[in-house]
Amino acid sequence: MRTIGVLTSGGDAPGMNAAIRAVVRGGILQGLNVVGIGHGYQGLVEGEIIPLEMRSVSGHLHRGGTLLATARSADFMTEQGFARALATLQDNGIDGLAVIGGDGSYRGALELAKAGIHVVGLPGTIDNDIPGTEYTIGFDTAVNTCVELSDKLRDTAQSHERCSVIEVMGRHCGNIALAAGLACGATAILVPEITVDFEQDVLARIDETRSTGKRHFILIVSEGVFGEGFPFKDSAEIAGAVTERLGIPARTTVLGHVQRGGNPSARDRIIAAEMGYLAAELLSRKGTPRAVCYQDGRVCDRDLAQALAMPKPFDFEQYRMAMAVSG
Ligand code: F6P
Repeated sequence: MRTIGVLTSGGDAPGMNAAIRAVVRGGILQGLNVVGIGHGYQGLVEGEIIPLEMRSVSGHLHRGGTLLATARSADFMTEQGFARALATLQDNGIDGLAVIGGDGSYRGALELAKAGIHVVGLPGTIDNDIPGTEYTIGFDTAVNTCVELSDKLRDTAQSHERCSVIEVMGRHCGNIALAAGLACGATAILVPEITVDFEQDVLARIDETRSTGKRHFILIVSEGVFGEGFPFKDSAEIAGAVTERLGIPARTTVLGHVQRGGNPSARDRIIAAEMGYLAAELLSRKGTPRAVCYQDGRVCDRDLAQALAMPKPFDFEQYRMAMAVSG
């Protein structure tokens, strides 16, 4: 009987458990032996093999996090660590691997493929920033968390007639900020993909809506905006500028890692299950490296290297629309 492995790598994302469950059960139904690797690539380096069967993945579908644990492994990137990881696979007779994670995890999988391992990548990150797929596992849950928390912040901003500056995740991309900002009617959304003129696009905009009677304001800021060329070093400074320039009291909330946790939404569970099941099927066929993707409302697969080389465009059109309807 062939053995395949499954691991989660990089930042966790709600829905990863649903994907693991589907890989495990789908693999067993394909006649494969399935093992888990704990702590991502680090577990591969250290030989952390977890035997799995149908029941091992019971009771996790609805839970956030990853039952296999995850890590970012510096060891795996070294020649010695990579050799140890390969030895773990060989010693345990594992010839196929499902890697659930971001684009860095995909690149690790491609290296293993060069050494003869059948690999399949599944997109797992709240950031929705992986090329070759329109959707990544965890994004919907993270956005819903942002919206739920922003709604609460709006209540108090409304009562006190304040501006609420809300910072959301997205290391280098504004996808979470855009979706959350649109869903909660933010007065302005700051994302790394778009250079804003703070005077015109934020302060003048707040002032303009104030002149039409608005008394509370939500600014959604992606963590990725801070850096070279951006006039503020953090969200607190943005709030300070709003108060200083417009006389509007402002408060800052950095949502942080709460966005990565919580029970996955139905959408994340369903897409993750479909992706995991397809990954098991692909691994049972022993093909070349594949990436499981989401395109035009369906789960599909494509060549892993080609997927990584594809663009991941920001939705400028949606951004323009979000700004047009806010006010
Ligand atoms: O999972 C992606 C992400 O949440 C980014 O948006 C964020 O910048 C990063 O991970 C933070 O991860 P950590 O604190 O685990 O290093």
